[in-house]
Amino acid sequence: MHWRATAPIANYSVHKAVASQVDWSALREDFPILREQAHGHPLIYFDSAASSQKPRPVIEALRNFYEHDNANVHRGLHTLSSRATEAYENARRRVAEYIGAACGDEIIFTRGTTESINLVAQAWGGKFIREGDVILLTVMEHHSNLVPWQLLAERTGARLRFVPVLDDGTLHLEQLDSLLTPEVKVFAFTHISNSLGTINPVAELCTKARAVGALTLVDAAQSAGHMPLDVQELGCDFLAFSGHKMCAPTGIGVLYGRAELLESMPPWHGGGEMIVSVTLEKSTFKKPPHRFEAGTPTIAGAIGLGAAIDYIEAIGRSAIFEHDSELARCAAERLTELPGIRIFGPSQERGALVGFVMDAAHPHDLTTFADQYGLAMRGGHHCNQPLMRRFGVSGTTRASFYFYNTMEEIDRMIEILHGAVRFFS
Ligand SMILES: Cc1ncc(COP(=O)(O)O)c(C=O)c1O
Repeated sequence: MHWRATAPIANYSVHKAVASQVDWSALREDFPILREQAHGHPLIYFDSAASSQKPRPVIEALRNFYEHDNANVHRGLHTLSSRATEAYENARRRVAEYIGAACGDEIIFTRGTTESINLVAQAWGGKFIREGDVILLTVMEHHSNLVPWQLLAERTGARLRFVPVLDDGTLHLEQLDSLLTPEVKVFAFTHISNSLGTINPVAELCTKARAVGALTLVDAAQSAGHMPLDVQELGCDFLAFSGHKMCAPTGIGVLYGRAELLESMPPWHGGGEMIVSVTLEKSTFKKPPHRFEAGTPTIAGAIGLGAAIDYIEAIGRSAIFEHDSELARCAAERLTELPGIRIFGPSQERGALVGFVMDAAHPHDLTTFADQYGLAMRGGHHCNQPLMRRFGVSGTTRASFYFYNTMEEIDRMIEILHGAVRFFS
């Protein structure tokens, strides 16, 4: 891999590296797809908030698994099955380390953030939520952190309550104390908004929730691959994220849960791998995390996620955060050069994305226009329909960044958008 920080690659705790020590353009060489063209133009990939690209070490880890170790895990007594099991369980331990969990048993592999949140809503919510209880969410939640709770509320008679979003794209924290009443049993919120880029004060929100006895679930889909993150420091009870947004393959994700909570939860999917014994009438179940992983898991995906974590850690998450935030800050600033533009989200600190609308064109038309010049952005509601409604728009155009993006690409985006203004006016 191509990186030029001073710390050794093998040292996984290098997240103190600063952005200036990393040769960001050399890192691009690790991503073969960045050499692709679209409509005859060099690809500019500004859609990493939807799904990131994959570096060669991750692709090689998948290939290596299938070429040398492939077999089903846990129930085999042969060499390949032992190797596959070891690699799969090592990946679990690696994830635990990455997010500061106490041990691998607190890590459940899922298909992604959506499945992780559904798991909590069904297994924990199904057992502990009663009629009259309150589920506290925010207006900026992705549908993944909204619909599972709506389904739970419908089933149980619980009520949903929402922390409003202010005009600057931050949460209305002054209202939080009056919303966090003792009836609130769980407060589920996003770490970084996928449409606004707002970075929520997770530790503060968790402390406040704990004070009224509410559990917390953090949707870390937009933060896990972009910044240092430690579940014990944050003080959250559950945390969910997706591998595919942080250099890993699709189909693998994580649910972190505090050990005693996972222990208290019944299974949600039944099947192989999650049982201790089965009679025709009844079954007993394994301890977490295996209780929650019915059927053959996404073995190669978990191994790919482990490789992605190694890759990200070798660069350093602080450096990545610094680099990506600077791109987002510059993009937001440069976008103001365009006529008839409205930019969403906080003007100060923001995650690695910027959402905007231009008077000249609908987000879908603008995104289609940009694609003609090789620029991949996303236009639409970004699975944030209530948030779009809050801001009085049907959708936005979103440019989202990762460590393989450059300032030159932002210059080119601005040029293309100037062209769009001319074309659509
Ligand atoms: C904040 C947030 N939450 C949840 C999700 C859902 O992730 P997945 O589709 O990988 O389950 C996304 C994906 O865009 C997201 O941005």
